[in-house]
Amino acid sequence: MTPAPAIHPSILNADQAHLADELDRVADADGLHVDIMDNHFVPNHFGGPSLVETVLAHTALPVDAHLMIEDADRWAPAYAEAGATIVTTHIEATAAPFRLADELHRLGAGAGIALRPTTPLSAVEHLLGRIDLLLLMTVEPGFGGQSFIEAMLPKIERARRLVSEEGLELRIQIDGGVTARTIERAAEAGAGVFVAGSAVYGADDAPAAIARLRDLAAAHTR
Ligand code: DX5
Ligand code: ZN
Repeated sequence: MTPAPAIHPSILNADQAHLADELDRVADADGLHVDIMDNHFVPNHFGGPSLVETVLAHTALPVDAHLMIEDADRWAPAYAEAGATIVTTHIEATAAPFRLADELHRLGAGAGIALRPTTPLSAVEHLLGRIDLLLLMTVEPGFGGQSFIEAMLPKIERARRLVSEEGLELRIQIDGGVTARTIERAAEAGAGVFVAGSAVYGADDAPAAIARLRDLAAAHTR
């Protein structure tokens, strides 16, 4: 049976000066997405392992850390040690993804692999049986508030097909431009975990925005 869709607000779009309050606003989400950026892999800088620790001190939600950083093999284990439930690195910045997945598992975390919009699925095909989350970027990584790239829909569909053909357990996450206008087609294409930054933090009523996104996704999950 297909698991229920999950909404993971991205705290990149939260008011960083009031992080504890901002975490309260999304307490009924399914997980929390913590973006990490190093100013090299993407032209922006945000977070570090201590941010994961800070967040976990103020939320009961599982945290998925999205590492938009170079040399990910070297830095990812620290995020598992900081308590992230899933640590996701970009395939474009991970030299030994099989080894890293084993290491993250040994540290008690799930392993996720992310793809930039133009990175083909074939780059991770052989890896799918060894990871827990496949993150397909639906914007160019680096900033919140960008528009969903429609051309990613067939890629989500192909990923969904691969996962079901091989009977795999891994979840397909999408990140970037997820809104009430885009989530239905993404759910229909086969995504199951939805990162939502501005759609949640830009709403007056964040719990209502989360519930609406979840309902729209559920109604379009096959
Ligand atoms: C972008 C980040 C996203 C971002 C999403 O590179 O990985 O997680 O916060 O923000 P929205 O939902 O506003 O596109
Ligand atoms: Zn992200």
